[in-house]
Amino acid sequence: MVAVERALDDPALPDDRARADAIRPAMVELVHAGDAIPDAACESLDGAAVGNLVHADPAGRFHVLAVVFPEGTSSGVHHHGCWGVIGYLRGGDEETRYRELAREGDHVELEEASRHVWHQGDVTYLLPPEEGWHRVRNPGPGTGVSVHVLCRLPADHPHHFYDRDSHRLVPFPLLETAPGRWQATLMPDP
Ligand SMILES: [Fe+2]
Repeated sequence: MVAVERALDDPALPDDRARADAIRPAMVELVHAGDAIPDAACESLDGAAVGNLVHADPAGRFHVLAVVFPEGTSSGVHHHGCWGVIGYLRGGDEETRYRELAREGDHVELEEASRHVWHQGDVTYLLPPEEGWHRVRNPGPGTGVSVHVLCRLPADHPHHFYDRDSHRLVPFPLLETAPGRWQATLMPDP
């Protein structure tokens, strides 16, 4: 948390990428330290994917989630509207990134940009608008756990889902479905 606060407070860092680069070493250290994230934060919510809140910045600038993908689960394709730094802690989550080709209102056209299977110690960034789209799925074996440092607080984190059929953005807010446990939740089309 100290590294994140220091990066956010450093006026010499010009943009989100520079701040993410400044946060990266602490994230690498955290995901390599066996006990930095409590075991309870690495558990699914009744077998479903969940983000377990590890830290919320008192100033509301960022939060830290231990994001759990049980074997066989997927986030679906979604967009983060502000920065994030993700460190992979356990398992082999596969992340697909998408490039936005066009947007008109809530209608977007995407194409796959890359696909990686991440392992413990790997760190990636969310840097919208260009690098805000992704999908995480866990093909197994075992449960995938990654540490997400995300902008703002969970309830304020801008998050949208991509509806494959209509190619439209659908609100996908993080909702606290159990104490300290946040799940991205599809909201019905208005
Ligand atoms: Fe995400």
